[in-house]
Amino acid sequence: MRIDVVSIFPDYLAPLRLSLLGRAQEDGLLTLTVHDLREFTSDRHRTVDDTPYGGGAGMVMKPEPWALALGRVLAAQTGVSDASVDDGAAGAPAGGARRPVLIVPSPAGQVFTQAMAHELAEEPTLAFACGRYEGIDERVLDWAGEHFDVRPVSLGDYVLNGGEVAVMAMVEAVGRLLPGVVGNPHSLVEESHSDGLLEYPVYTKPASWRGHEVPEVLLSGNHGRIAQWRLEQQLRRTAARRPELLEGADASAYGKAERAVLRELGFEVADGRLRRA
Ligand code: ADE
Repeated sequence: MRIDVVSIFPDYLAPLRLSLLGRAQEDGLLTLTVHDLREFTSDRHRTVDDTPYGGGAGMVMKPEPWALALGRVLAAQTGVSDASVDDGAAGAPAGGARRPVLIVPSPAGQVFTQAMAHELAEEPTLAFACGRYEGIDERVLDWAGEHFDVRPVSLGDYVLNGGEVAVMAMVEAVGRLLPGVVGNPHSLVEESHSDGLLEYPVYTKPASWRGHEVPEVLLSGNHGRIAQWRLEQQLRRTAARRPELLEGADASAYGKAERAVLRELGFEVADGRLRRA
């Protein structure tokens, strides 16, 4: 996969060169390029922002540097020359080719989920436009929509100082799903959100530690009982911490034992789906 990020703080993204994603880049599984928005300015002060039309607090990111930066990204990702993007001649991609995805992190976007991470991991390229201040002039997104599949995405219902931290989270969540990035692909199967439930608790040696014991079932060697216990823990945890994940969930895979636990947790099955009892 090829990923391009545009930011006024390219150094913010440096940690993406570490650990598993760093290795993925060394191994050629992922190409990550970070572009400095200020390189696409032409004035002495390398200005990227200006006051908002209509008044109000803060500054808004100017459209011109963004168009040049995103034109460069589009050229790198699709081979369309940036000059033709600049004068609008490039138009829609030829032959019904899919538009490259451009993610614009914003607290006003659709909330990022594991399902979205899986969807994005199927794309050949991803571009990210990190806004700062009060955001990017809206016309940049309108214009970019002629060339990209533009998706405003939020990390959650809180406000960050800019898109960089959100991009780090999204690139890590997507990057680890690329084939070969996580050494043991089985670890991607049994983790929180992979099946709509939170992950079960995990333990390692010693079996007894400061008066706290590892649950006996995990020492039993009985794989059937262990799997049953883990699923029950997932249901209990999800009901306690994120009950909204259970409401409306597909319950067709749950047998008698799980349904009894769910009843105890205040959920029942109706038409194959879970609902609050
Ligand atoms: N930029 C500022 N806040 C954000 C958030 N919650 N998600 C994504 N990008 C942001």
